[in-house]
Amino acid sequence: MTMKWRGWALTTGVLAISAMAQAAPPTAAMLSNACAGCHGTNGGSAGPSMPSLAGQSKESIVDAMTKFKSGARPASVMGRLAKGYSDAEIAAMGEFFSKQKIHVTNQSLDPAKVSRGASLQEANCSRCHIDDGKEGKDDTPVMASQWLTYLQMQMADYLTGHRKMPEKMKEKVDPMSKEDLDALLHFYASVK
Ligand code: HEC
Ligand code: HEC
Repeated sequence: MTMKWRGWALTTGVLAISAMAQAAPPTAAMLSNACAGCHGTNGGSAGPSMPSLAGQSKESIVDAMTKFKSGARPASVMGRLAKGYSDAEIAAMGEFFSKQKIHVTNQSLDPAKVSRGASLQEANCSRCHIDDGKEGKDDTPVMASQWLTYLQMQMADYLTGHRKMPEKMKEKVDPMSKEDLDALLHFYASVK
């Protein structure tokens, strides 16, 4: 064998190995890294208009991503982004974020609104937003310690009909005043 052929054999060997490495599916943690720029390291968002994903149930993340992907839920960036992931990848990321601890935020909140919200939540929201919003029934998102600004943006989208409210939630939300709804969001944002 000439030197030239040895070089060729070596190069193709290296190429074959790197092709194999690329074929290995990325891990859930690797996939979720792509979300860190906005949702923070391990899903603990640092900015008030970006939701934390840490501690959300797998079901609620899969549900949100599926709705973003189909366009059923309005989005500024998530619609386009969600289309880049397969159902299996979305499930893997949902699993990853569900295992991270809920991100405790320190935000300035109106204490009078927080206590008003605390007195309203059980009768109106606790059927699905369980345990002070630290858990959610089925695909209900966790709201405990979520950014107030984000929750207010979502509530505004629900009230204008831009984002579709689940029927049973709408029954509770519709009769409430804007002030009481805002008090509830203050309450959930305050839960540590
Ligand atoms: C460029 C910033 C950005 C990146 C990157 C990003 N997101 Fe988002 N995400 C947002 C914004 C903003 C929203 C609110 C909806 C909207 O306006 O698109 C959101 C909302 C969400 C929600 C809904 C949460 C809730 O409680 O309502 C989920 C779930 C989500 N993103 C998952 C992901 C996943 C998984 C990734 C990584 C593959 C990701 N996002 C990457 C900006 C981003
Ligand atoms: C019957 C169950 C149910 C009840 C009752 C309910 N919710 Fe919800 N809530 C949900 C579900 C499910 C979602 C996510 C659905 C979606 O995709 O829009 C949600 C989402 C939300 C969100 C958006 C959170 C996010 O991260 O995107 C807010 C804010 C909210 N609910 C507030 C309330 C308030 C305040 C009450 C009480 C007045 C309430 N909900 C009562 C089931 C419920």
